Amino acid sequence: MICAPSLLAANFVCLEKQLTTLQNKGITWLHYDVMDGYFVPNHSFGADILKQIKAQFNFVYDVHLMVSSPKIFIEFYKSLADVITIHIEACNTIEEAKTMIQLIQSYGIKAGISIKPKSEVESILPLLDEVDLVLVMSVEPGFGGQVFMMNSLEKVKELKTYKDKHQSKFMIQIDGGVNKDNGQLCKEAGVENCVVGSYLFQDLEHRIQEFQ
Ligand code: DX5
Ligand code: ZN
Repeated sequence: MICAPSLLAANFVCLEKQLTTLQNKGITWLHYDVMDGYFVPNHSFGADILKQIKAQFNFVYDVHLMVSSPKIFIEFYKSLADVITIHIEACNTIEEAKTMIQLIQSYGIKAGISIKPKSEVESILPLLDEVDLVLVMSVEPGFGGQVFMMNSLEKVKELKTYKDKHQSKFMIQIDGGVNKDNGQLCKEAGVENCVVGSYLFQDLEHRIQEFQ
């Protein structure tokens, strides 16, 4: 299972040191949360910060767009991201979501679709053969440090069953409240990529290996 540390939980006073630690310990993905204050009641980072990080570090940059108008943000991140994930709840129709996914992929970037805790897998079924990644939110998006919702594992199992049956390419990712214990359950349920924020950064040196 790939571990994608969430930059949101980093200590920005010693960011360079923490990113170096991640890189030296073999972490390959970096999860980058983008918030607009509308889709979620919070703000995080703009694209310039990712530009600076990318100039110095070599990660797979996994941009999670928690925004109401993904199109504008896809343009901001198209030269920086390796993966861009949008939310199904930010799209008015499934066709709109499909257009966004195609737009992301047209830039040579992997496209992900995410569902919030109250959304069902069913809401993204027509997209499962198009996307490169499906992100199951295991907390309400917007803030780090929340408690993992166990029922998100049911959605993971549902996705895993679909994936096996259809030999789909999408990677199953989970985000929110992941720690050592539920991380193991995620893996067993079929998660291939787990985003870990506060739990990891509370004791970076020791906890990285818990996810390797
Ligand atoms: C929440 C973000 C997450 C968050 C995860 O809205 O999408 O990526 O940073 O942090 P933890 O692991 O602390 O829940
Ligand atoms: Zn996220």
